[in-house]
Amino acid sequence: MPDEQTTTPGGDTGESKAFSPHIPFETPGFFLRGSGNLDWGMKNRLSRIFNPKSGRTVMLAFDHGYIMGPTTGLERIDLNIVPLCEHVDVLMCTRGVLRSCIPPTVTKPIALRCSAGATILKDLSYEHVGVDIEDAVRLDAAAMAVQVYVGGEHEHDTLENLTKTIDAGNRYGIPTLGVTAVGREMVRDARYLGLACRIIAELGAHYVKTYYCESDFEQVTAACPVPIVIAGGKKLPELDTLKMCYNAVQQGAAGVDMGRNIFQADKPVAMAKAVSAVVHQLMPPADAYQMYQDA
Ligand code: R5P
Repeated sequence: MPDEQTTTPGGDTGESKAFSPHIPFETPGFFLRGSGNLDWGMKNRLSRIFNPKSGRTVMLAFDHGYIMGPTTGLERIDLNIVPLCEHVDVLMCTRGVLRSCIPPTVTKPIALRCSAGATILKDLSYEHVGVDIEDAVRLDAAAMAVQVYVGGEHEHDTLENLTKTIDAGNRYGIPTLGVTAVGREMVRDARYLGLACRIIAELGAHYVKTYYCESDFEQVTAACPVPIVIAGGKKLPELDTLKMCYNAVQQGAAGVDMGRNIFQADKPVAMAKAVSAVVHQLMPPADAYQMYQDA
């Protein structure tokens, strides 16, 4: 009578070890908030965006030129941004800059700016979907980013841009990042940001970008069923930026999607490293600032 543990269904005891029938097949969960029921391609792309060990990400945003032209610090992306790529987890940019300035040997995941059509000279909320899903696939986008103006004049259009992009991305397994763009008439408080983030998540965005607010930010993250990353906003003193990152992560943010506070810093590479230490290792801001100064 053959040993029960070494018998295969076909009865060939010689090959039975390879089947390891006594080891249960594991079905692990997924590390990322609200993403457990997604398909393999989505989960794989999200695992390139968010570090599965820390559950967080440092995205470098340098898409500002699509509405602002050659923003300070982004005049020469080939000189100023390419050296930063290896120190962050994700690159957020337009397809124009990706094709013209980022070497294809850079293998960081790309969050592709896909809404377009507005400039700082006119109404910023008057956007459309400016990238075909086939081009996002061609560029191997790990995510597509769409600006949403909740409460803005073109709220309806920007929400439609979001849902169209989500539908297209769902067909190909590419997650959508919904970006809460705050119009000048809106207040960046927990009530508004919570409303905007929740709406974006309910419409199916796989993660959401918003601003940090000093009061009740933990309510914004708690009520959003998918990960939230924070934008940096206008340039702050470096220590203040690191404190903001630390507080945001402590209050439930899954990282940052930061531009000016990294590429406009006196030492952008050192700043990228300091932000990364705060986000992934929860390094206290004072220690991260010391690291920045010592660089
Ligand atoms: C603005 O055009 C983009 O959405 C930026 O990606 C976003 O504002 C993040 O950049 P920053 O940290 O400079 O605010």
